[in-house]
Amino acid sequence: MNRTRHDGPLVVGAGLAGLSAALEAARAGAEVLVLTPEPLLNACSSAWAQGGMAAALTAVDSPELHAKDTEAAGAGLVEPTATRALTDAGRETVEWLAALGAPFDRDADGGFVVSLEAAHSVARVARVGGDGAGRAILSAVVAAVRAEKRITVWEDARLKALLLDADGRVVGAVAARGPGGRLVEITATAVVLATGGAGGLFAATTTPAALKGEGLALAARAGAEILDPEFVQFHPTAIDVGLDPAPLATEALRGEGARLIDGEGRFLLGEAPDADLKARDVVARAVHAARMEGRGAYLDARAAIGEAFPHEFPAVFAACMRSGLDPRISPIPVMAACHYHMGGIAADADGRTTVAGLYAVGECAATGVHGANRLASNSLLEAATFGRRAGRAAALETGGGRPLPVEVTPDLPEAAMSELRTAMTAHAGVVRNEAGLSGLIALIDRLEAQYGSAAALEAARLVVQAALDRRESRGGHYRSDYPQTAAVADHTRVRNVRPAMRPAVLEPAA
Ligand code: SIN
Repeated sequence: MNRTRHDGPLVVGAGLAGLSAALEAARAGAEVLVLTPEPLLNACSSAWAQGGMAAALTAVDSPELHAKDTEAAGAGLVEPTATRALTDAGRETVEWLAALGAPFDRDADGGFVVSLEAAHSVARVARVGGDGAGRAILSAVVAAVRAEKRITVWEDARLKALLLDADGRVVGAVAARGPGGRLVEITATAVVLATGGAGGLFAATTTPAALKGEGLALAARAGAEILDPEFVQFHPTAIDVGLDPAPLATEALRGEGARLIDGEGRFLLGEAPDADLKARDVVARAVHAARMEGRGAYLDARAAIGEAFPHEFPAVFAACMRSGLDPRISPIPVMAACHYHMGGIAADADGRTTVAGLYAVGECAATGVHGANRLASNSLLEAATFGRRAGRAAALETGGGRPLPVEVTPDLPEAAMSELRTAMTAHAGVVRNEAGLSGLIALIDRLEAQYGSAAALEAARLVVQAALDRRESRGGHYRSDYPQTAAVADHTRVRNVRPAMRPAVLEPAA
Protein backbone atom coordinates (compact mmCIF):
# COMPACT_ATOMS: atom_id res chain seq x y z
CA MET A 1 0.00 0.00 0.00
CA ASN A 2 1.26 3.51 -0.85
CA ARG A 3 1.31 6.02 1.98
CA THR A 4 0.96 9.77 1.73
CA ARG A 5 0.70 12.54 4.30
CA HIS A 6 -1.62 15.45 3.55
CA ASP A 7 -1.17 18.49 5.76
CA GLY A 8 -4.77 19.66 5.81
CA PRO A 9 -8.32 18.31 5.70
CA LEU A 10 -9.33 15.46 3.43
CA VAL A 11 -12.79 15.80 1.87
CA VAL A 12 -14.33 12.55 0.65
CA GLY A 13 -17.02 13.22 -1.95
CA ALA A 14 -17.50 15.99 -4.49
CA GLY A 15 -21.17 16.89 -4.49
CA LEU A 16 -22.38 20.30 -3.34
CA ALA A 17 -21.66 19.57 0.34
CA GLY A 18 -18.12 18.29 -0.19
CA LEU A 19 -17.09 21.02 -2.59
CA SER A 20 -18.63 23.77 -0.45
CA ALA A 21 -16.60 22.41 2.48
CA ALA A 22 -13.44 22.25 0.35
CA LEU A 23 -13.85 25.83 -0.89
CA GLU A 24 -14.40 27.30 2.55
CA ALA A 25 -11.56 25.30 4.12
CA ALA A 26 -9.22 26.51 1.37
CA ARG A 27 -10.42 30.10 1.78
CA ALA A 28 -9.67 29.75 5.50
CA GLY A 29 -6.09 28.96 4.53
CA ALA A 30 -6.03 25.14 4.58
CA GLU A 31 -4.58 22.87 1.91
CA VAL A 32 -7.46 20.56 0.91
CA LEU A 33 -7.42 17.18 -0.79
CA VAL A 34 -10.73 16.03 -2.31
CA LEU A 35 -11.33 12.37 -3.19
CA THR A 36 -14.04 11.38 -5.67
CA PRO A 37 -14.40 8.20 -7.75
CA GLU A 38 -15.52 10.04 -10.89
CA PRO A 39 -14.69 13.27 -12.70
CA LEU A 40 -16.27 16.28 -10.98
CA LEU A 41 -19.97 16.71 -11.78
CA ASN A 42 -20.42 12.97 -12.45
CA ALA A 43 -22.01 10.46 -10.09
CA CYS A 44 -23.20 12.77 -7.33
CA SER A 45 -26.83 13.40 -6.52
CA SER A 46 -26.43 17.19 -6.28
CA ALA A 47 -25.92 17.49 -10.03
CA TRP A 48 -29.19 15.63 -10.61
CA ALA A 49 -31.35 17.87 -8.43
CA GLN A 50 -34.12 19.40 -10.50
CA GLY A 51 -36.33 21.48 -8.22
CA GLY A 52 -33.77 23.85 -6.75
CA MET A 53 -32.82 25.36 -3.41
CA ALA A 54 -35.42 26.20 -0.78
CA ALA A 55 -34.84 29.55 0.97
CA ALA A 56 -36.94 32.42 2.27
CA LEU A 57 -36.34 34.89 -0.55
CA THR A 58 -39.63 36.73 -1.02
CA ALA A 59 -41.66 39.32 0.87
CA VAL A 60 -44.34 36.75 1.78
CA ASP A 61 -41.78 34.36 3.27
CA SER A 62 -39.48 34.30 6.30
CA PRO A 63 -36.87 31.98 7.87
CA GLU A 64 -39.43 31.34 10.66
CA LEU A 65 -42.06 30.14 8.20
CA HIS A 66 -39.50 28.04 6.34
CA ALA A 67 -38.47 26.42 9.64
CA LYS A 68 -42.11 25.82 10.55
CA ASP A 69 -42.77 24.02 7.26
CA THR A 70 -39.56 21.99 7.69
CA GLU A 71 -40.64 20.91 11.18
CA ALA A 72 -44.17 20.04 10.04
CA ALA A 73 -42.84 17.86 7.21
CA GLY A 74 -40.34 16.12 9.49
CA ALA A 75 -43.07 14.43 11.57
CA GLY A 76 -41.79 15.17 15.07
CA LEU A 77 -38.10 14.43 14.58
CA VAL A 78 -36.77 17.75 13.27
CA GLU A 79 -34.24 19.47 15.54
CA PRO A 80 -35.33 23.14 15.88
CA THR A 81 -31.92 24.69 16.55
CA ALA A 82 -30.19 23.18 13.53
CA THR A 83 -33.25 23.98 11.43
CA ARG A 84 -33.25 27.66 12.36
CA ALA A 85 -29.52 27.81 11.66
CA LEU A 86 -30.34 26.44 8.21
CA THR A 87 -33.33 28.58 7.32
CA ASP A 88 -31.74 31.76 8.73
CA ALA A 89 -28.82 31.20 6.35
CA GLY A 90 -31.06 30.61 3.29
CA ARG A 91 -30.65 33.94 1.53
CA GLU A 92 -26.94 34.21 2.32
CA THR A 93 -26.30 30.74 0.88
CA VAL A 94 -28.25 31.43 -2.32
CA GLU A 95 -26.40 34.74 -2.74
CA TRP A 96 -23.03 33.06 -2.09
CA LEU A 97 -23.77 30.56 -4.87
CA ALA A 98 -25.06 33.30 -7.17
CA ALA A 99 -21.81 35.21 -6.57
CA LEU A 100 -19.88 32.09 -7.59
CA GLY A 101 -21.83 32.18 -10.86
CA ALA A 102 -24.87 29.95 -10.23
CA PRO A 103 -27.36 31.36 -12.76
CA PHE A 104 -30.55 31.35 -10.68
CA ASP A 105 -33.69 32.30 -12.63
CA ARG A 106 -34.49 36.00 -12.06
CA ASP A 107 -37.59 38.11 -12.55
CA ALA A 108 -37.68 41.48 -14.32
CA ASP A 109 -36.62 43.24 -11.10
CA GLY A 110 -33.64 40.93 -10.53
CA GLY A 111 -35.38 38.97 -7.75
CA PHE A 112 -35.13 35.20 -7.51
CA VAL A 113 -37.87 33.25 -9.33
CA VAL A 114 -39.29 30.71 -6.87
CA SER A 115 -41.39 27.57 -7.39
CA LEU A 116 -43.91 25.88 -5.15
CA GLU A 117 -43.21 22.31 -4.04
CA ALA A 118 -45.09 19.92 -1.76
CA ALA A 119 -45.62 20.87 1.89
CA HIS A 120 -44.17 24.40 1.46
CA SER A 121 -46.75 26.96 2.53
CA VAL A 122 -45.43 29.48 -0.01
CA ALA A 123 -43.39 29.30 -3.23
CA ARG A 124 -39.73 29.35 -2.06
CA VAL A 125 -37.63 27.08 -4.27
CA ALA A 126 -35.02 29.09 -6.16
CA ARG A 127 -34.62 27.42 -9.50
CA VAL A 128 -32.22 27.45 -12.42
CA GLY A 129 -33.21 27.00 -16.06
CA GLY A 130 -36.57 25.54 -14.98
CA ASP A 131 -35.45 22.10 -13.77
CA GLY A 132 -31.67 22.33 -14.14
CA ALA A 133 -30.77 23.63 -10.67
CA GLY A 134 -28.41 20.92 -9.45
CA ARG A 135 -26.09 20.80 -12.45
CA ALA A 136 -26.00 24.58 -12.88
CA ILE A 137 -25.26 25.28 -9.20
CA LEU A 138 -22.66 22.54 -8.97
CA SER A 139 -20.99 23.70 -12.21
CA ALA A 140 -20.42 27.12 -10.65
CA VAL A 141 -18.94 25.54 -7.53
CA VAL A 142 -16.75 23.19 -9.58
CA ALA A 143 -15.36 26.17 -11.52
CA ALA A 144 -14.50 27.88 -8.23
CA VAL A 145 -12.84 24.70 -6.92
CA ARG A 146 -10.80 24.31 -10.11
CA ALA A 147 -9.60 27.90 -9.74
CA GLU A 148 -8.60 27.45 -6.08
CA LYS A 149 -4.88 26.70 -5.79
CA ARG A 150 -5.19 25.24 -2.30
CA ILE A 151 -7.52 22.46 -3.48
CA THR A 152 -6.24 19.24 -5.08
CA VAL A 153 -8.80 16.80 -6.47
CA TRP A 154 -8.22 13.10 -7.12
CA GLU A 155 -10.94 12.11 -9.55
CA ASP A 156 -10.29 8.36 -9.43
CA ALA A 157 -10.35 7.58 -5.71
CA ARG A 158 -12.91 5.43 -3.87
CA LEU A 159 -13.10 5.39 -0.07
CA LYS A 160 -12.19 1.98 1.38
CA ALA A 161 -11.51 2.63 5.09
CA LEU A 162 -11.11 5.34 7.70
CA LEU A 163 -7.85 5.51 9.64
CA LEU A 164 -7.96 5.77 13.43
CA ASP A 165 -5.19 6.55 15.88
CA ALA A 166 -4.78 4.92 19.29
CA ASP A 167 -7.12 7.52 20.87
CA GLY A 168 -9.93 6.65 18.45
CA ARG A 169 -9.51 9.86 16.48
CA VAL A 170 -9.97 9.73 12.69
CA VAL A 171 -6.62 10.64 11.14
CA GLY A 172 -7.13 9.84 7.48
CA ALA A 173 -8.51 7.33 5.01
CA VAL A 174 -7.60 4.53 2.65
CA ALA A 175 -8.66 5.00 -0.97
CA ALA A 176 -8.58 2.68 -3.97
CA ARG A 177 -7.31 4.57 -7.01
CA GLY A 178 -7.71 3.96 -10.71
CA PRO A 179 -9.07 0.95 -12.57
CA GLY A 180 -6.69 -1.41 -10.73
CA GLY A 181 -7.88 -0.26 -7.33
CA ARG A 182 -4.36 0.57 -6.06
CA LEU A 183 -4.67 1.23 -2.33
CA VAL A 184 -3.35 4.52 -0.92
CA GLU A 185 -3.26 5.38 2.79
CA ILE A 186 -3.68 9.12 3.30
CA THR A 187 -3.15 10.72 6.70
CA ALA A 188 -4.74 14.14 7.12
CA THR A 189 -5.58 16.69 9.82
CA ALA A 190 -9.30 15.86 9.57
CA VAL A 191 -11.68 13.92 7.33
CA VAL A 192 -14.89 15.44 6.00
CA LEU A 193 -17.24 12.74 4.73
CA ALA A 194 -19.52 14.00 1.94
CA THR A 195 -20.20 10.63 0.41
CA GLY A 196 -23.87 11.12 -0.43
CA GLY A 197 -26.75 8.81 0.29
CA ALA A 198 -27.60 5.17 -0.08
CA GLY A 199 -29.99 5.09 -3.06
CA GLY A 200 -27.83 2.45 -4.76
CA LEU A 201 -28.97 -0.02 -2.08
CA PHE A 202 -32.41 0.04 -3.75
CA ALA A 203 -33.34 -1.34 -7.17
CA ALA A 204 -35.70 1.59 -7.74
CA THR A 205 -33.76 4.80 -7.16
CA THR A 206 -33.51 8.30 -8.57
CA THR A 207 -29.92 8.70 -7.28
CA PRO A 208 -26.65 7.52 -8.79
CA ALA A 209 -26.57 3.74 -8.26
CA ALA A 210 -22.92 3.93 -7.16
CA LEU A 211 -23.97 5.61 -3.89
CA LYS A 212 -24.49 2.70 -1.51
CA GLY A 213 -23.98 4.20 1.92
CA GLU A 214 -20.22 3.56 2.12
CA GLY A 215 -19.56 6.69 4.15
CA LEU A 216 -22.32 5.75 6.58
CA ALA A 217 -20.99 2.21 7.02
CA LEU A 218 -17.36 3.24 7.44
CA ALA A 219 -18.24 6.00 9.90
CA ALA A 220 -20.26 3.46 11.93
CA ARG A 221 -17.31 1.10 11.83
CA ALA A 222 -15.09 3.94 13.13
CA GLY A 223 -17.45 4.32 16.10
CA ALA A 224 -19.53 7.30 14.98
CA GLU A 225 -23.11 7.59 16.16
CA ILE A 226 -25.66 6.91 13.43
CA LEU A 227 -28.97 8.76 13.68
CA ASP A 228 -32.36 7.54 12.37
CA PRO A 229 -31.03 5.31 9.57
CA GLU A 230 -34.49 3.83 8.89
CA PHE A 231 -35.75 7.11 7.46
CA VAL A 232 -35.48 6.92 3.69
CA GLN A 233 -37.48 9.19 1.41
CA PHE A 234 -39.23 7.74 -1.61
CA HIS A 235 -40.04 10.18 -4.40
CA PRO A 236 -43.50 9.56 -5.85
CA THR A 237 -42.72 10.54 -9.42
CA ALA A 238 -39.69 8.64 -10.64
CA ILE A 239 -40.28 8.08 -14.36
CA ASP A 240 -40.97 4.39 -14.90
CA VAL A 241 -39.34 3.64 -18.23
CA GLY A 242 -37.15 0.71 -17.12
CA LEU A 243 -33.99 2.77 -16.50
CA ASP A 244 -31.59 2.28 -13.58
CA PRO A 245 -31.40 4.82 -12.00
CA ALA A 246 -34.87 6.10 -12.83
CA PRO A 247 -35.07 9.67 -14.16
CA LEU A 248 -37.00 12.09 -11.95
CA ALA A 249 -40.10 14.09 -12.80
CA THR A 250 -39.66 17.02 -10.43
CA GLU A 251 -42.32 17.88 -7.88
CA ALA A 252 -42.35 21.39 -9.38
CA LEU A 253 -44.44 19.89 -12.20
CA ARG A 254 -47.19 19.29 -9.65
CA GLY A 255 -46.52 22.78 -8.30
CA GLU A 256 -47.43 24.01 -11.81
CA GLY A 257 -50.64 21.95 -11.84
CA ALA A 258 -49.67 18.53 -13.27
CA ARG A 259 -51.93 15.85 -11.74
CA LEU A 260 -51.46 12.24 -10.67
CA ILE A 261 -53.93 9.86 -12.29
CA ASP A 262 -54.38 6.11 -12.53
CA GLY A 263 -54.66 4.06 -15.72
CA GLU A 264 -58.38 4.92 -15.98
CA GLY A 265 -57.66 8.64 -15.74
CA ARG A 266 -59.01 9.00 -12.17
CA PHE A 267 -57.20 11.36 -9.77
CA LEU A 268 -55.08 9.36 -7.34
CA LEU A 269 -55.38 11.82 -4.48
CA GLY A 270 -58.78 13.39 -5.05
CA GLU A 271 -60.31 16.26 -6.98
CA ALA A 272 -58.96 19.25 -5.03
CA PRO A 273 -56.49 21.23 -7.14
CA ASP A 274 -53.76 21.00 -4.46
CA ALA A 275 -54.38 17.32 -3.56
CA ASP A 276 -51.21 16.21 -5.32
CA LEU A 277 -49.03 18.50 -3.22
CA LYS A 278 -49.48 16.60 0.02
CA ALA A 279 -46.37 15.50 1.95
CA ARG A 280 -44.04 13.39 -0.15
CA ASP A 281 -44.53 10.19 1.88
CA VAL A 282 -48.32 10.43 1.52
CA VAL A 283 -48.10 10.86 -2.25
CA ALA A 284 -45.48 8.09 -2.57
CA ARG A 285 -47.78 5.63 -0.77
CA ALA A 286 -50.70 6.58 -3.02
CA VAL A 287 -48.58 5.94 -6.14
CA HIS A 288 -47.25 2.68 -4.68
CA ALA A 289 -50.77 1.47 -3.80
CA ALA A 290 -52.15 2.27 -7.25
CA ARG A 291 -49.38 0.26 -8.85
CA MET A 292 -49.71 -2.66 -6.43
CA GLU A 293 -53.46 -2.76 -7.16
CA GLY A 294 -52.72 -2.88 -10.90
CA ARG A 295 -54.30 0.52 -11.60
CA GLY A 296 -51.01 2.10 -12.67
CA ALA A 297 -49.85 5.62 -11.79
CA TYR A 298 -49.21 8.48 -14.21
CA LEU A 299 -48.29 12.13 -14.00
CA ASP A 300 -50.48 14.05 -16.40
CA ALA A 301 -48.83 17.33 -17.36
CA ARG A 302 -50.63 17.75 -20.69
CA ALA A 303 -53.04 20.49 -19.63
CA ALA A 304 -50.85 22.22 -17.02
CA ILE A 305 -47.55 22.34 -18.93
CA GLY A 306 -48.31 21.12 -22.46
CA GLU A 307 -46.36 22.91 -25.17
CA ALA A 308 -44.27 24.79 -22.56
CA PHE A 309 -42.61 21.52 -21.51
CA PRO A 310 -39.38 21.79 -23.57
CA HIS A 311 -38.42 25.21 -22.20
CA GLU A 312 -40.06 25.08 -18.74
CA PHE A 313 -38.79 21.62 -17.76
CA PRO A 314 -36.05 20.74 -20.27
CA ALA A 315 -34.41 17.99 -18.18
CA VAL A 316 -37.67 16.08 -17.58
CA PHE A 317 -38.69 16.63 -21.19
CA ALA A 318 -35.38 15.26 -22.48
CA ALA A 319 -35.56 12.23 -20.16
CA CYS A 320 -39.07 11.40 -21.41
CA MET A 321 -38.21 11.92 -25.09
CA ARG A 322 -35.10 9.70 -24.77
CA SER A 323 -37.48 6.91 -23.78
CA GLY A 324 -39.87 7.62 -26.65
CA LEU A 325 -42.45 9.34 -24.48
CA ASP A 326 -43.77 12.80 -25.36
CA PRO A 327 -45.15 14.32 -22.13
CA ARG A 328 -47.02 16.97 -24.15
CA ILE A 329 -49.13 14.16 -25.60
CA SER A 330 -49.06 11.30 -23.05
CA PRO A 331 -49.20 11.04 -19.26
CA ILE A 332 -45.83 10.02 -17.77
CA PRO A 333 -45.76 6.56 -16.10
CA VAL A 334 -44.40 7.02 -12.58
CA MET A 335 -43.33 4.94 -9.60
CA ALA A 336 -42.11 5.65 -6.09
CA ALA A 337 -38.32 5.28 -5.89
CA CYS A 338 -35.65 5.84 -3.25
CA HIS A 339 -34.64 9.48 -3.43
CA TYR A 340 -32.97 10.65 -0.22
CA HIS A 341 -31.63 9.27 3.05
CA MET A 342 -32.82 11.41 5.96
CA GLY A 343 -30.88 9.33 8.47
CA GLY A 344 -27.12 9.17 8.52
CA ILE A 345 -24.00 10.00 10.50
CA ALA A 346 -25.03 12.12 13.48
CA ALA A 347 -23.50 15.57 12.97
CA ASP A 348 -24.01 19.12 14.18
CA ALA A 349 -24.44 22.17 11.96
CA ASP A 350 -20.63 22.42 11.65
CA GLY A 351 -20.48 18.79 10.49
CA ARG A 352 -18.90 17.55 13.74
CA THR A 353 -19.63 13.90 14.41
CA THR A 354 -19.22 12.02 17.69
CA VAL A 355 -15.71 10.94 16.63
CA ALA A 356 -12.83 13.44 16.89
CA GLY A 357 -11.35 14.38 13.53
CA LEU A 358 -14.41 13.16 11.59
CA TYR A 359 -16.93 15.50 9.96
CA ALA A 360 -20.00 14.59 7.91
CA VAL A 361 -21.96 16.84 5.57
CA GLY A 362 -24.72 16.55 2.99
CA GLU A 363 -26.83 13.44 2.55
CA CYS A 364 -24.51 11.09 4.46
CA ALA A 365 -24.98 13.26 7.56
CA ALA A 366 -28.00 13.50 9.82
CA THR A 367 -28.07 16.97 11.36
CA GLY A 368 -31.70 16.73 12.41
CA VAL A 369 -33.06 19.17 9.83
CA HIS A 370 -34.93 16.53 7.84
CA GLY A 371 -36.43 14.49 10.66
CA ALA A 372 -38.57 11.64 9.38
CA ASN A 373 -39.43 13.31 6.09
CA ARG A 374 -37.33 15.94 4.31
CA LEU A 375 -39.05 19.04 3.00
CA ALA A 376 -38.47 19.22 -0.77
CA SER A 377 -35.41 21.19 -1.91
CA ASN A 378 -34.00 21.63 1.60
CA SER A 379 -31.13 19.28 0.78
CA LEU A 380 -29.19 21.57 -1.56
CA LEU A 381 -29.56 24.35 1.01
CA GLU A 382 -28.28 22.08 3.76
CA ALA A 383 -25.41 20.79 1.59
CA ALA A 384 -24.05 24.25 0.82
CA THR A 385 -24.81 25.90 4.18
CA PHE A 386 -23.54 23.22 6.54
CA GLY A 387 -20.87 22.16 4.02
CA ARG A 388 -19.35 25.64 4.22
CA ARG A 389 -19.51 25.63 8.01
CA ALA A 390 -17.85 22.22 8.18
CA GLY A 391 -15.08 23.39 5.86
CA ARG A 392 -14.31 26.33 8.14
CA ALA A 393 -14.34 24.09 11.23
CA ALA A 394 -12.20 21.36 9.63
CA ALA A 395 -9.64 23.94 8.50
CA LEU A 396 -8.80 24.55 12.19
CA GLU A 397 -8.02 20.89 12.95
CA THR A 398 -4.38 19.98 13.52
CA GLY A 399 -4.52 16.17 13.29
CA GLY A 400 -3.81 13.29 15.64
CA GLY A 401 -1.45 10.40 16.22
CA ARG A 402 -0.10 7.63 14.03
CA PRO A 403 -2.73 5.60 12.19
CA LEU A 404 -3.34 2.06 13.39
CA PRO A 405 -3.30 -0.71 10.78
CA VAL A 406 -6.69 -1.04 9.15
CA GLU A 407 -8.52 -3.56 7.05
CA VAL A 408 -10.41 -2.31 4.03
CA THR A 409 -13.94 -3.11 3.01
CA PRO A 410 -14.48 -5.71 0.27
CA ASP A 411 -16.70 -5.04 -2.74
CA LEU A 412 -19.88 -7.01 -3.21
CA PRO A 413 -20.07 -8.94 -6.52
CA GLU A 414 -22.60 -7.53 -8.97
CA ALA A 415 -25.06 -10.44 -8.71
CA ALA A 416 -25.13 -10.19 -4.91
CA MET A 417 -25.60 -6.42 -5.09
CA SER A 418 -28.46 -6.87 -7.49
CA GLU A 419 -30.13 -9.43 -5.18
CA LEU A 420 -29.77 -7.02 -2.27
CA ARG A 421 -31.15 -4.05 -4.22
CA THR A 422 -34.23 -5.96 -5.39
CA ALA A 423 -34.94 -7.19 -1.85
CA MET A 424 -34.42 -3.71 -0.36
CA THR A 425 -36.96 -2.15 -2.73
CA ALA A 426 -39.44 -4.96 -2.04
CA HIS A 427 -39.09 -5.07 1.75
CA ALA A 428 -37.46 -1.84 3.00
CA GLY A 429 -39.22 0.39 0.48
CA VAL A 430 -42.41 2.45 0.64
CA VAL A 431 -44.28 -0.17 2.71
CA ARG A 432 -42.45 -2.34 5.26
CA ASN A 433 -43.40 -5.12 7.67
CA GLU A 434 -41.75 -7.47 10.13
CA ALA A 435 -41.66 -10.52 7.86
CA GLY A 436 -40.08 -8.64 4.96
CA LEU A 437 -37.53 -6.83 7.13
CA SER A 438 -36.56 -10.04 8.98
CA GLY A 439 -36.09 -11.76 5.62
CA LEU A 440 -33.78 -8.90 4.62
CA ILE A 441 -31.66 -9.34 7.75
CA ALA A 442 -31.34 -13.04 6.87
CA LEU A 443 -30.28 -12.13 3.34
CA ILE A 444 -27.67 -9.63 4.62
CA ASP A 445 -26.33 -12.32 7.03
CA ARG A 446 -26.04 -14.81 4.18
CA LEU A 447 -24.31 -12.37 1.81
CA GLU A 448 -21.94 -11.29 4.57
CA ALA A 449 -21.02 -14.89 5.36
CA GLN A 450 -20.36 -15.44 1.66
CA TYR A 451 -18.58 -12.22 0.66
CA GLY A 452 -17.40 -10.52 3.88
CA SER A 453 -18.46 -7.28 5.48
CA ALA A 454 -18.91 -5.10 2.43
CA ALA A 455 -19.81 -1.49 3.26
CA ALA A 456 -23.05 -1.80 1.26
CA LEU A 457 -24.14 -4.70 3.47
CA GLU A 458 -23.32 -2.80 6.64
CA ALA A 459 -25.23 0.25 5.40
CA ALA A 460 -28.21 -1.92 4.45
CA ARG A 461 -28.13 -3.57 7.87
CA LEU A 462 -28.25 -0.18 9.60
CA VAL A 463 -31.34 0.82 7.60
CA VAL A 464 -33.13 -2.52 7.93
CA GLN A 465 -32.44 -3.20 11.61
CA ALA A 466 -33.65 0.27 12.59
CA ALA A 467 -36.75 -0.16 10.39
CA LEU A 468 -37.43 -3.48 12.11
CA ASP A 469 -37.00 -1.93 15.55
CA ARG A 470 -39.25 1.08 14.86
CA ARG A 471 -42.68 -0.38 15.51
CA GLU A 472 -44.70 2.61 14.32
CA SER A 473 -45.18 4.58 11.12
CA ARG A 474 -43.73 8.06 10.83
CA GLY A 475 -42.75 10.18 7.82
CA GLY A 476 -40.93 8.11 5.22
CA HIS A 477 -41.01 4.96 7.39
CA TYR A 478 -44.32 3.12 6.96
CA ARG A 479 -45.01 -0.23 8.63
CA SER A 480 -48.15 -1.99 7.38
CA ASP A 481 -48.12 -4.02 10.61
CA TYR A 482 -47.74 -0.88 12.78
CA PRO A 483 -49.58 1.83 10.83
CA GLN A 484 -50.09 4.13 13.83
CA THR A 485 -47.74 6.98 14.81
CA ALA A 486 -46.46 6.82 18.39
CA ALA A 487 -47.51 9.72 20.64
CA VAL A 488 -43.88 10.47 21.47
CA ALA A 489 -41.34 10.85 18.67
CA ASP A 490 -38.03 9.18 19.52
CA HIS A 491 -34.82 9.18 17.53
CA THR A 492 -32.94 5.98 16.74
CA ARG A 493 -29.30 6.24 17.81
CA VAL A 494 -26.92 3.45 16.87
CA ARG A 495 -23.30 3.16 17.84
CA ASN A 496 -20.95 0.32 16.90
CA VAL A 497 -23.76 -1.97 15.80
CA ARG A 498 -21.62 -5.05 15.58
CA PRO A 499 -18.31 -4.18 17.23
CA ALA A 500 -17.04 -7.76 17.06
CA MET A 501 -17.35 -7.91 13.31
CA ARG A 502 -14.14 -7.42 11.36
CA PRO A 503 -14.10 -6.71 7.66
CA ALA A 504 -12.20 -9.02 5.31
CA VAL A 505 -9.01 -7.71 3.73
CA LEU A 506 -9.44 -6.67 0.14
CA GLU A 507 -6.55 -7.52 -2.11
CA PRO A 508 -6.18 -4.77 -4.66
CA ALA A 509 -6.66 -5.94 -8.23
CA ALA A 510 -3.43 -6.53 -10.17
C1 SIN B 1 -37.91 17.40 -6.96
O1 SIN B 1 -37.51 18.24 -7.74
O2 SIN B 1 -39.03 16.89 -6.98
C2 SIN B 1 -36.99 16.92 -5.91
C3 SIN B 1 -36.64 18.01 -5.00
C4 SIN B 1 -36.04 17.41 -3.77
O3 SIN B 1 -36.02 16.20 -3.64
O4 SIN B 1 -35.63 18.17 -2.91
